[in-house]
Amino acid sequence: MLVFFILNLGLYLANGFDLMNSKYWLTSCSLTGCSITLNACLNCFGERGCTSCVTSIRPECDQCISDIYNKNDLETYEGVQYFICDSLDSFQEKICHIYCRGQYKQTGKCTRYQNLPICQCTNDNNQLFSNSTINPVDHTTLETSTTTTTSLTTRTTAKPIYNVQGSLKLKVSYMGFSKFFALPNGDLISFREHLGTKFEIWDSQKGIIKRSFDPIYNSSRNIFGILSNGDLIVDYSEQKAFIIWDLNTYTEKYRIQTTEFISCLHVLKNDDLVIGQYTPNSWTNKNFDLVIRDSQNGSIKKRLIGHTLNVYEIISLPNGYLASCSDDSTVRIWDHSKGILIKTVTIYYRAIRSIAYLENINHMALGLTNGTIALLNVNNYSITRSLYGHLEQVCWYTCLHALDNGDLLSTGDSSIKIWNTKDGSLKSTLRSHQYSVGLLTFLPNGNLVSVSMAELAIWS
Ligand SMILES: *[C@@H]1O[C@H](CO)[C@@H](O)[C@H](O)[C@H]1NC(C)=O
Ligand SMILES: *[C@@H]1O[C@H](CO)[C@@H](O)[C@H](O)[C@H]1NC(C)=O
Ligand SMILES: *[C@@H]1O[C@H](CO)[C@@H](O)[C@H](O)[C@H]1NC(C)=O
Ligand SMILES: *[C@@H]1O[C@H](CO)[C@@H](O)[C@H](O)[C@H]1NC(C)=O
Ligand SMILES: *[C@@H]1O[C@H](CO)[C@@H](O)[C@H](O)[C@H]1NC(C)=O
Repeated sequence: MLVFFILNLGLYLANGFDLMNSKYWLTSCSLTGCSITLNACLNCFGERGCTSCVTSIRPECDQCISDIYNKNDLETYEGVQYFICDSLDSFQEKICHIYCRGQYKQTGKCTRYQNLPICQCTNDNNQLFSNSTINPVDHTTLETSTTTTTSLTTRTTAKPIYNVQGSLKLKVSYMGFSKFFALPNGDLISFREHLGTKFEIWDSQKGIIKRSFDPIYNSSRNIFGILSNGDLIVDYSEQKAFIIWDLNTYTEKYRIQTTEFISCLHVLKNDDLVIGQYTPNSWTNKNFDLVIRDSQNGSIKKRLIGHTLNVYEIISLPNGYLASCSDDSTVRIWDHSKGILIKTVTIYYRAIRSIAYLENINHMALGLTNGTIALLNVNNYSITRSLYGHLEQVCWYTCLHALDNGDLLSTGDSSIKIWNTKDGSLKSTLRSHQYSVGLLTFLPNGNLVSVSMAELAIWS
């Protein structure tokens, strides 16, 4: 195959792409006019996520997207498989990007490697922990034509492309704070306890409720997650259960019974669930272990023991570790594959409600209950900087986010702030909310969603 490939390279280049049987997508994606659909999914991630984004918008594009991810069409060179694409064609650049998003990479570009026209996937700020990766899935190392060597290392987490210009696109008033969760098709789901409990599906472009329906139980704490097959996980804390829904029909597929009071959920790339716990209203149950469960049958895989109060957020770090924050004033770093605590960082007398990893400076941002954001160096676990500006506590529904340019997005009052993390300066403050913001999240198209007790705002 390779010899054939090389021999045909000249012909290939002269002729464009037609001779290559590795580019079935070129036909299937242009004939059915899927190019526009792909534009709407540029921030998808994971093959299943990207496939479901594309086919939910335009079902006819299923051939196009399955051709893009067809492993049999990759070209093998020196034992490594490459997606073939031509950098002179912006359409192929786009397909390469979608291919890379499917591999949990930020983006990709068509380039030359040993004169082969390949798609090279990268993560924008590809700075990983100095202490190596634990489970590199993709070990491809490429010499690019500029002779710089780029190590392509798989991240444990992938996220939509986050950039916030700060212009308000939409603001809607509603009653009763709710946790809004972005679905892969761009809608938002919320569970609102106002005038009777309802699940509501919001059109995030128009700011209207598309449909609403009764919950199975009245006890969701609005903790949602998405599995790689596109199924939605919904918690029912008082029942100590998760229900897994089919998002095409909003019907229950199956449920998982737990023993935890669920305070937060983090879905790992392999679909395992990492569950943080809280104590509902008594001091008798004092179990705050992080519990890792199989998302198919709920069986416990690991128990991470250490926290002594409510856990608020759990994130994956690029080196494969987990980090969690809690009212017990600690951030804990875990090697969850081994089930061990790597490090405990204590911020005396301050509960920590939200955390984010800042790849550009290899720090974690910690949101404290006095509004201060502490920047923790993850090499030596020392606090190198504090960001002062928010007047209330940094809230606990994912209220800190790293942006792709290295900036930090935060809230801890009615404003949203963007910080330069390299020098600690405040770059901008977004004001529109009248009430304190209680949640920040992103839509698949990269728009920011901010929610207060009475307002839902969408920003580009
Ligand atoms: C990497 O982390 C391990 C503990 O997880 C430690 O023993 C080792 O010294 C670290 N290596 C470097 C280079 O920091
Ligand atoms: C949920 O609460 C509403 C009223 O608040 C009630 O009508 C409904 O029966 C409850 N559903 C369940 C499953 O308890
Ligand atoms: C749950 O599923 C996992 C993976 O499919 C399997 O390894 C495990 O044995 C199952 N556990 C139970 C209790 O069925
Ligand atoms: C908030 O608490 C932290 C940790 O105790 C402290 O370093 C910081 O100065 C406090 N911020 C304010 C504004 O007092
Ligand atoms: C941690 O590392 C940073 C950056 O290298 C350095 O400025 C700081 O002094 C170190 N802190 C400690 C306690 O070693």
